[in-house]
Amino acid sequence: MASATTMHHRRRSIIQLALLLLVTSPAAMLAAGGACESEEFPAGRSYATCADLPTLGASLHWKYDAAASSLSLAFAAKPPGTSGAGWVAWGINPTGDGMKGAQTLVAFKSSGAYVVNTYNLTGYRPLSAASTPIAFEATELAADEGADGKVRLYGTLQLPKGMEAVNHIWQVGSTVANGVPAKHAFAQENLEAKGSLVLTGAGTTDAAPAPVAGGPSAEQATGC
Ligand SMILES: *[C@@H]1O[C@H](CO)[C@@H](O)[C@H](O)[C@H]1NC(C)=O
Repeated sequence: MASATTMHHRRRSIIQLALLLLVTSPAAMLAAGGACESEEFPAGRSYATCADLPTLGASLHWKYDAAASSLSLAFAAKPPGTSGAGWVAWGINPTGDGMKGAQTLVAFKSSGAYVVNTYNLTGYRPLSAASTPIAFEATELAADEGADGKVRLYGTLQLPKGMEAVNHIWQVGSTVANGVPAKHAFAQENLEAKGSLVLTGAGTTDAAPAPVAGGPSAEQATGC
C-alpha cells in the first residue's frame, strides 16, 4: 500500500518534470509558436507578428507597414497588485537601450476608464499626470483588459523612414497615485525588461546590445 502510493507520487513527479522541461525548452517554445499566438483581441484588432517578451510575462503584437513606416501594436502584460489599479508601459528608445530617452506609451485607469499617455522619459524622476510630447506621432491610442487580467495597450506610431530595428522597453507597475503611474518594482525581471526588436522580422527579441562605455549604464543601475 505504502509502496503503491510512493510509486504513484514518483510517477506524478516524473510527469511534472517532463511537462516542466517541455514548457521551458526553447525548442518547445519555437514549436508551439509562443504563448502570444493564443492571445485574442477585440474585433478589428489584428497583428501580423507577435513575440513573447523575455520578462514580466509580457507580449508584443505588431504590424509594421514598411512603406509607410507605420507601426501598429498591442502590448499585453498583467500589472502586479490589485486588478485595475496598476499600469503597463511599452516604448522605443531611439537613443539608448534603457529607460532614459525612451519614447513610451503608458496605459492605466483614470476615473474608471483606461487611458494611454505618452511620456518622453528624460531621466529617472516621477512622471507627470499629463502626457509629454514624444518623438513619434502616436495615434489610435487605447487600452482594455483581457479576460486573463492582462492590460492591453494599443497604438500606432509613425516611425522615421527605415527605422526597422529598434531598442524597446516594457514595464508594469502596481500603483497609480493621484493620476500618476508610480514607480515600478526593482526586481530582476523589471530591470531586464528591455531588448531589441526587428520590426520586419518574425518576433525577434534579442537582448539589448551591451551599453557602450560612458553610456547610460550607470542610470540603468537605478532601475528602468
Ligand atoms: C525629450 O526630452 C529630451 C531631454 O529633455 C529632449 O532633448 C527631447 O527634445 C525631448 N523630445 C521631445 C519629442 O520632446
